[in-house]
Amino acid sequence: MSLTRVHNLSISLDGFATGEPQSLEAPFGHAGERLHTWMFATRFWDAETGSLGVDNAIAERHGPGIGAEIMGANKFGPPGWQDDPDWQGWWGPNPPFHSPTFVLTHRPRSSIEMEGGTTFHFLDAAPADALEIAQRAAEGKDVRIGGGATVVRDFVAAGLVDLLHLVQVPIVLGRGVRVWDGLEALEDAYDIEAVSTPSGVTHLTLTRKPPPERAGPRLSAPAPA
Ligand SMILES: NC(=O)c1ccc[n+]([C@@H]2O[C@H](COP(=O)([O-])OP(=O)(O)OC[C@H]3O[C@@H](n4cnc5c(N)ncnc54)[C@H](OP(=O)(O)O)[C@@H]3O)[C@@H](O)[C@H]2O)c1
Repeated sequence: MSLTRVHNLSISLDGFATGEPQSLEAPFGHAGERLHTWMFATRFWDAETGSLGVDNAIAERHGPGIGAEIMGANKFGPPGWQDDPDWQGWWGPNPPFHSPTFVLTHRPRSSIEMEGGTTFHFLDAAPADALEIAQRAAEGKDVRIGGGATVVRDFVAAGLVDLLHLVQVPIVLGRGVRVWDGLEALEDAYDIEAVSTPSGVTHLTLTRKPPPERAGPRLSAPAPA
């Protein structure tokens, strides 16, 4: 079964996945690079000098088994990129997705084929419909929801995400776009593991609980003696 996965989404202690305002010069607004310092130190990010510790082992789960990505318009480019016909994303000619990549936007344009297996497709579609399209493109592999915060939140709220890996970074941003808003009692739908690592971040892995009809029989409480 094709899973829908989120990996390495870095959030502040107060739950913001980006600061503000976002711009060409400051893609994460006032957060700068602080949300991702932990990742820059890993071999996953820096093939030459990155560390091979626990952060790396967890970060590397980002790629295996993924056949397509879905991302939001604000991850693909700074505000107003839709007015620039030459904008092809932040990542240069060979983006790190290496799969069909669906950009959700209310102003879709023609697909762009990049080097290395990434083709950007632009979709104006509800989360469930976008996921169905991405799953077809993924040909049986999993679909990654790549961010930003708004798109991750929308897919979680729609009950579409099976695995949600967040990295809580010990900074307080105070403003930006927050993941948790509107997701009250999310813990009812997910099993949650938290692992803190020597770098000071906490990896939160939320795994969707099976729906009651698919769950195994519950162990009944032992009868009183
Ligand atoms: N912390 C991390 O690990 C991480 C990871 C990835 C990205 N980011 C950052 O997060 C920021 C972006 O996050 P964000 O929350 O501002 O925005 P986002 O989730 O990237 O994109 C939201 C935008 O996508 C479009 N959209 C969303 N759902 C749609 C739908 N169903 N149909 C059509 N269009 C839809 C809309 O844009 P339009 O109406 O303009 O088309 C919407 O305003 C960036 O700064 C990025 O660098 C952080």
